Amino acid sequence: MSTEARPVAEEFDPAVTDLVARMTPAEKAALCAGSDFWHLYGVPRLDVPPIMVADGPYGLRKEHDGSDVDGKSEPATCFPTSSALAASWDPDLVEEVGRALGDEARANDVSVLLGPGVNIKRSPLCGRNFEYFSEDPLLAGLLGAAWIRGVQSRGVGASLKHFAANNQERRRFNIDAAVDERALHEIYLTAFELAVTRARPWTVMCAYNRLNGVHCSQHEWLLTTVLRERWGFDGLVVSDWGAVDERVPGLAAGLDVEMPGYGGHNDRLILDALADGTLPEAVLDRAAARVLTLIERTAQVRAGGHGYDRDAHHALARRAATEGTVLLKNEGGLLPLAPQGRIAVVGAFARQPRFQGAGSAGINPHRVDDAYTRICELAGEQVAYAPGYHRDRGEVDEELLAQARATARDADVVLVFVGLTEGYETEGLDRTHLALPAAHDALVHAVTAVHDKAVVVLANGAPVEMPWLRGVPAVVEGYLGGQAGGSAVADVLFGAAEPGGRLAETFPHRWEDNPTHAIADAPAVTEYRESVYVGYRYYDSAHVDVMFPFGHGLSYTTFAYSGLALDAAVAEAGQPVQVSVTVTNTGEREGSEVVQVYVHDCASTVFRPQQELAGFAKVRLRPGQSQQVAVELDRRAFAYYDTGRGDWSVEAGRFEIRVGSSSRDIRAVAVLDLTGGDPAPEPSAYPLPAPGQEFDRTAFADLYGRPLPANTADRPGAFTLNTPLADMRSSLVTRTLQYVARRKSREVIADPTSPMAYLVAAMLDEMPLRMLALGTRGAVSRSVQQGLLDLINGRRLRGLRGLLSSRGR
Ligand code: BGC
Repeated sequence: MSTEARPVAEEFDPAVTDLVARMTPAEKAALCAGSDFWHLYGVPRLDVPPIMVADGPYGLRKEHDGSDVDGKSEPATCFPTSSALAASWDPDLVEEVGRALGDEARANDVSVLLGPGVNIKRSPLCGRNFEYFSEDPLLAGLLGAAWIRGVQSRGVGASLKHFAANNQERRRFNIDAAVDERALHEIYLTAFELAVTRARPWTVMCAYNRLNGVHCSQHEWLLTTVLRERWGFDGLVVSDWGAVDERVPGLAAGLDVEMPGYGGHNDRLILDALADGTLPEAVLDRAAARVLTLIERTAQVRAGGHGYDRDAHHALARRAATEGTVLLKNEGGLLPLAPQGRIAVVGAFARQPRFQGAGSAGINPHRVDDAYTRICELAGEQVAYAPGYHRDRGEVDEELLAQARATARDADVVLVFVGLTEGYETEGLDRTHLALPAAHDALVHAVTAVHDKAVVVLANGAPVEMPWLRGVPAVVEGYLGGQAGGSAVADVLFGAAEPGGRLAETFPHRWEDNPTHAIADAPAVTEYRESVYVGYRYYDSAHVDVMFPFGHGLSYTTFAYSGLALDAAVAEAGQPVQVSVTVTNTGEREGSEVVQVYVHDCASTVFRPQQELAGFAKVRLRPGQSQQVAVELDRRAFAYYDTGRGDWSVEAGRFEIRVGSSSRDIRAVAVLDLTGGDPAPEPSAYPLPAPGQEFDRTAFADLYGRPLPANTADRPGAFTLNTPLADMRSSLVTRTLQYVARRKSREVIADPTSPMAYLVAAMLDEMPLRMLALGTRGAVSRSVQQGLLDLINGRRLRGLRGLLSSRGR
């Protein structure tokens, strides 16, 4: 990779340029890495203060006393996780949550909040899907932009992450995402582009993985050509924690700050490269100027005197949770419940809720509402309860089931609380299937065997299979609703609030139906063979029946659509098109509807998904009320990425504008003819497999446009600093390292069932040697890592010599 400085036209504040001119190379190099896990250095000699950064996407996780990750953090409001927020389809609400997050960060002297995550939910198995918004890039990008606007309005920087194509946790530190150019632009980059261009985040966090062979942390095309030159990003790029592979090429490629920092362990590399001329000083100056700009931008945080109102934030978290609660099924209008009658609640989640995901986003909430307490309030009396399963264990307990059956039998309606337990959805681990824990499925089956009025209430961050669906009249998807999720879902069950959510992702019937199913498990490279056919783009194009489609969600009222109109039936390609439609609340309750606009290209020369979301609007209407909803479709709504031209193209011809309340519930269609357009593309086709079948590898190789990389794990003797420890277990050295690391981690995280313990356990398997600096605060330096690698590769003498000579370095 070249270490040439690129001519990035970047203007810095004159005060910043002046400061950089007064700094020594060592001071500048120091600015390019954290001083520890959570702080950036300032320049004490020049009165530039250090700043603090902290996670995360749905709540502040500020670790106590500067510790790295001890699993304890300052109490903060746990808002609904991103999948729940996304289900609101409401950028204004997400911006409001962003403002509250900014307030909490500011009150805690945190200058940058590490979020939002706008990675696409390529596979429903990804362990971090709860932290991400959607399988659709428009929705993810617009919500991400709203989040950033909210946070940054408080003078706190956002860190848009994880850039880019970080769509799985498995082998995340080194996996190579092989993505064809169209899918990269149309699916994986679009969400970032929207967030960058519409909300101008002050920082972007690069991802751990490789993209098409190159680590994102040193991917010049990604970090400079696309991010800065095309999108005009004017902030700072920070590494994900431990994502740096080669520091100097990374800096030259556009990675400004390495996190965490370990007492300047890589400063020497930067200074050596400056001295021998392989790193131009302009590159270092540029990175230092970006850090100083960030410090300047976050001055408000240091002004002090900030606080926030915990009760108000709790109330906002509760409102956001109801807005993200999706009524999936409601046969016979069973919901909302009447307060009279005997209600039984079964399922331990009703009293000990699961309300957030695990890993770096996991926070320490001020307080947690449980659904059972609020149900009793709403029902006006004590409600029968049985746990049905052990809260933290997945196996079936027949006694608990029998007790739950007995409780259910005596009731008029049974509310069954089930979902995924902590270990299922965490950073660092992907799920291996879409099933609920066996005990949870068993509980639903047990209840439906004795009762026909069961309402299933789900707590999970991503889709699950529902083998019992036919026997259950009503299902409410509560997602991971944050600290107020319990009361929010109870409000929805009783109609004290309406279910405002619509799915921002498809729920397939079974995992095998997902387009990534047959290509999920590779040791070195994840081939994104489904190309642009992600989520509903695949299901709708391949006509695969799904359990609940993208955009789906019922209301307690009904809506009629009428008068769909375009401002022109014929338009010049590239001109914005106005879509308007009237929505009427035809039911008897107030409610909200998410009007979704999809575009279908009727005769495309290149292959395209059947339809793509091009705009949306959420409206709230009283019974009988009508409102005209207007959505503007810009050029991009009709465009595909033309790899021949290396740009977005719109092809002239006929398009359908489909308006509806899910991708499968289109209520009205208008026809639009586009004239003019960009030069005709080369015709292309892409074969779609039937559900459960693989995408064709040869067709993908053609699309990829170059030989697909070898997909094998590294072999003994040829391990590298990037090989995951788990792959090197044949060596006693690796096993010893892992043993020591596990013992050490237990000293910090005592409870092996705590959410943070899952993350650390996964990390100790998947981390490569180069990341050992991370867990040891830099003690295991690059030369020590190299010595260990030689030992593991069986080059004992060289390894020992290396280790001895690295002492003190
Ligand atoms: C995660 C980031 C997070 C960072 C700091 C990383 O492991 O991938 O999302 O912001 O840690 O906790």
